[in-house]
Amino acid sequence: MSSQPYKTLMEAQRDRRVLDLYDQLIEVEQRLIPTGLHVFGRPSEDAERADMLRMIASFDRPEAGVRALPDLVSENLGLGSYDALFKSASLDQARLSDRERIDSVVAAAIREFLEAGSEVAASLLERTSKIKRQDSLPVFALLEEISKQLETNNEIEALLRALRGEFIAPGPGADIVQNPAILPTGRNTHAVNPYTIPSIMAFARAEAVAWSLLERYLAENGRYPGAIALVLWGLDNIKTQGEGVAQALWLLGVRPVRDALNRVTEVEAIPLEELKRPRIDVVMTISGIFRDLFSPTVLLLDKAVRLVAQLDEPPEMNYLRRHVMEQVRNEVCPLDDAVARVFSNAPGNYGTNVNFMVMDSQWDRDETLGDLFVTRKCFAYGRDSQGRAVEGREARVALDQALGRVEATYQNIDTFEIGITDVDHYFEYLGGISKAVETRAQARPSIYLSDSLSRDARIRSLEETVRLESRAKTLNPKWYEGMLNHGFRGVAEIESHVSNTFGWSATADAVDDWIYTEVAQTFVLDEAMLERLRTLNPHSVHSLVGRLLEAHGRGYWDADVKLMDQLREISGSLEDQIEGVA
Ligand code: BEZ
Ligand code: MG
Repeated sequence: MSSQPYKTLMEAQRDRRVLDLYDQLIEVEQRLIPTGLHVFGRPSEDAERADMLRMIASFDRPEAGVRALPDLVSENLGLGSYDALFKSASLDQARLSDRERIDSVVAAAIREFLEAGSEVAASLLERTSKIKRQDSLPVFALLEEISKQLETNNEIEALLRALRGEFIAPGPGADIVQNPAILPTGRNTHAVNPYTIPSIMAFARAEAVAWSLLERYLAENGRYPGAIALVLWGLDNIKTQGEGVAQALWLLGVRPVRDALNRVTEVEAIPLEELKRPRIDVVMTISGIFRDLFSPTVLLLDKAVRLVAQLDEPPEMNYLRRHVMEQVRNEVCPLDDAVARVFSNAPGNYGTNVNFMVMDSQWDRDETLGDLFVTRKCFAYGRDSQGRAVEGREARVALDQALGRVEATYQNIDTFEIGITDVDHYFEYLGGISKAVETRAQARPSIYLSDSLSRDARIRSLEETVRLESRAKTLNPKWYEGMLNHGFRGVAEIESHVSNTFGWSATADAVDDWIYTEVAQTFVLDEAMLERLRTLNPHSVHSLVGRLLEAHGRGYWDADVKLMDQLREISGSLEDQIEGVA
C-alpha cells in the first residue's frame, strides 16, 4: 500500500490487480479436488474426509436443522452475511481478510472436530467466534454421522450380495456435498421421479444462475443474448433435482405449475413486469440419458417454448417469439419446424461422437466437429401443433436455423468431483455445440459454465474454467501425485486430462499457450518426472507427448521450435521403449 494519502492511478490499478490475483489463488486453493481415484471397497482417507466435511459444512442443511458453518461464524463475528462477503471480497482488502478469517476458523473447527470430537470443536467456535453451542453442536452431530459413514464401506459386500442375487438396500444417487444421504456407498442407487422436476429448491437456486449468466453476457456485450444454447444431461438433473431444467425455464421466463398430485405438468409465463428483462430464446440439446429418464420433462420444456412463442408481446421483449415469427414469415416454414427447440439423438442413440473424432484425430476441417454434433443431435422431441407426440423427428434444418441465431452456449457443472477436463463428455457436448454455432452463426459464441454447487453461483467463461481446472488439477502436484500413487492407471489419468484439455482447443480454441507449455515442462521436460512416468506407463506418456505435438501441429499451441524438437526426440525414444528397441 502507498504511504501517500492518495494513490496514483497506477498504484490503484496495481492494488486492484493484486487483490484480483489473490482472489483467484483462493479460488484454486479452495476447490475440492479428488486426490486420487476411488478404490472399490476402500473408505476415504483422512485428508480427503476433512476436505469433504468442510465442504459439506459450508452449506445450510434445512432438512437436518443445520446452518452452514461459514454463515454462523460470519454472523456471530458481526461480519454479516457470508454470501455478501464472498461476493465482495475481491473488491476490497478488508473484506478479503474477513473472509480469510472466517475460512480459517471453519478449517480449524473441522480439524478440531476430527481430532478431538464435537464438544471440543464447539468450544473452539464459542471461544473464537462466540457461536452458541446449541447452534454449532447440530452441525457437528451431522458431521459425526457423515464421518462415520465415510469410514465404512460396504461396496465389496454389496457386490457379492448382488452376484448371489440377494437384496441390496436402496439409496439416492447424488453429489455427496449436495446430498450426504447418498452414504454409505455400496447401495442400490435410485434416481428420481421426473414429475418432481424441477424441485422447488432447484427452481429457486436456478434464478440466481440464470441472472448471473445474463448479466455476464450483458456486461461483455452491452445487450442480452438473443438465443442461448443449453446442454442438459440426465445425471446432472438427477443430482440437482432439475437445476438445468429450471435454468431453461427461467431464461424463457416461465415457472413450473404443480397439479393436485404435486406433479409438474404445466408451465405459466412470468409476467414481463415481474421478469424485468426480455425472454431469451433457448435451444436445448439433451443427452440420450435425459431423453430416456425425463420424458415428462421433455414435454414440459417443449410446452414452455410453445407457450412463450404464442405470447402477445413486443418482439424486443420476447426474442423467442420474434425468431419464430421471422422464420415462419421469411421461409414460409411450418410453425412446428420454427418452434422446435428440444433436440436429442435419434431414438435409441446416445452421444455426439465428437469426442471419438477428436481423440482419434479424425477431422481435418474446422467445421467437421460441429457438423457431426448436428448430425447426431438433430432429432426434435415434444408435441406438434395438433398435440401429437414427436419422438425424435429428424429436423436438421430446424436445428441449423436455431443454432444460427445462438450467441451464447452454456452448461451447468453439477458436481465437485467431475469437471470439464476429467471426462471427454463436456467437450463433446458444450464444445461440439459451440463449434456448430460458430459455423452456423458465423461467429464464435460466448461459452459459459457455472458450478451450480458453488455458493455464489459464479458464471465463468470456458477459458476461465479451463485455466482453473488446469491449475487445480492437471498442473497441481497435489492432484497428479495423488494420481501417480495409482501407478499405471494414474499416468493414464494424467494423459486423459491432457487429451480432454486438447478437446477444448479442437472444439473451441479455448486453451492458452501457457497451459500446454506447462504440461510439457511438468510431465515431459522434467527428466525425473519423465523417468517416473515412462517406468509406470510408457504408452500413456507416449500418447501425452503425441497430443502435445498434435496441439502444436494443428495450431492450438504456439510453442518454441527448440521445445518442439525436444518433444519429438522424446516421442521417438518412447516409441523405441514401447517397441522394445531401446
Ligand atoms: C447424462 O447424464 O446425460 C450424460 C452422462 C454422461 C455423458 C453424457 C451425458
Ligand atoms: Mg491458442
